[in-house]
Amino acid sequence: MLKFNFQKVSKVPSNFFYKRKELNSYLRELQKVVVEKDYSAPESFLLLPTEEVSLKAAQKAFDLVLLVGVGGSSLGAQAVYEALKNKKSLKKIMVLDALNPLFFKKAVEAAKKVKKGRLAVCFISKTGNTFETTANFFALFKKIQRVAPEIFIISAKNSQLFAWGMKKNFVTLPIPEKIGGRYSVLSNAGLLPLKLAGINVKELLLGAKKANKVCLADDPMKNPAMASALTTFYHYQKGKNIYGNLVFPPDLEYFGKWYVQLMGECLGKDGKGMTPTVTTGTTDFHAIGQLYFDGPRDKLINFIFAKDLGQDYNIESLEDFSGIFPGMEGKKIWQLNKAIFEGVKRAFLKKQIPFTETILDKLNERNLGYLLQMRMVEIIFLGKLMRVNAFDQPGVDLYKRETRKILNKK
Ligand code: PA5
Repeated sequence: MLKFNFQKVSKVPSNFFYKRKELNSYLRELQKVVVEKDYSAPESFLLLPTEEVSLKAAQKAFDLVLLVGVGGSSLGAQAVYEALKNKKSLKKIMVLDALNPLFFKKAVEAAKKVKKGRLAVCFISKTGNTFETTANFFALFKKIQRVAPEIFIISAKNSQLFAWGMKKNFVTLPIPEKIGGRYSVLSNAGLLPLKLAGINVKELLLGAKKANKVCLADDPMKNPAMASALTTFYHYQKGKNIYGNLVFPPDLEYFGKWYVQLMGECLGKDGKGMTPTVTTGTTDFHAIGQLYFDGPRDKLINFIFAKDLGQDYNIESLEDFSGIFPGMEGKKIWQLNKAIFEGVKRAFLKKQIPFTETILDKLNERNLGYLLQMRMVEIIFLGKLMRVNAFDQPGVDLYKRETRKILNKK
């Protein structure tokens, strides 16, 4: 179960939630995309939770997954994997996103240690022409042949990469053409590597399906995606230009990074946008926390707090070194974290810093699926409110083109 709290803490007047004609008509469009199963719309990521997923290709067991991809083609899988890897016994996913010789060497060494036939390599690129991804794969391919890797190619059907994958008889799976990278976590792009690692992808999709139901509802007070978009928009208009994701536990850090990409790439254009950040509780309270409490009043904070991690332990007493922190000994870690979380919220309230909170009762696939889908819907609402195209990335395309030009000259 997931709860999104905003009313008392976000400092948004309640009438603000009801005056949004542009959202109402957009909502109708979204509902139509779902009813008509319209895969020609960029919003068709809404259809992914109801897709029949078999992922037969991922039935075989592997010991290591190398994910070669970047941005929307890696961050979604990473967000879920990192959130659950300390909780469940999963196969390791190593992500080759940037061009990093040090990490590359480590990945190749790990791959070479795997038994024959037990290495999965997922080459994920929607366009099939992202420089970093292609370079990493080219560099990797021959080095790992000795362990007979299973190669999975995940790309749009019309890409050169897809055609190559088919020609080579690799397992080649499509990403729907209209679904952009940052909305593709619940397509083969995210689901395949996650399934290979041992994540329950059916649960992930169930969570997303539940989110679809509430996030396409008319009443903003009962629709967390809309409430969150409106809250953020309100503060954006009031000059808040930083959106801080404050995540507890740190296992959710990559979830925050996934959202940073989603918000940054969807809304940062035409001179508009908020700068999304990610901060982990409670480590970063001893670092950037001070700035949040007393620095410039330019931020809206969203806490993401997972209550039950499925593991806990007691703080024991040390007889001769006791009483240093009254109320601490004998408590569980969960109780201490909760106290810190409540303490931070109280401080924010005292200092009139606006925030919202997303509470997960458990850290599990279902809640993560819900949260992924809810946040993607929230972003497209925000795109409408801010009047930007939430589906393109002209700046990123420009740097890709310029890099090509530089390399072609040499
Ligand atoms: O969301 C996006 O569209 C981007 O972040 C892309 O995912 C990223 O640039 C990688 O592109 P591709 O999947 O085509 O390799």
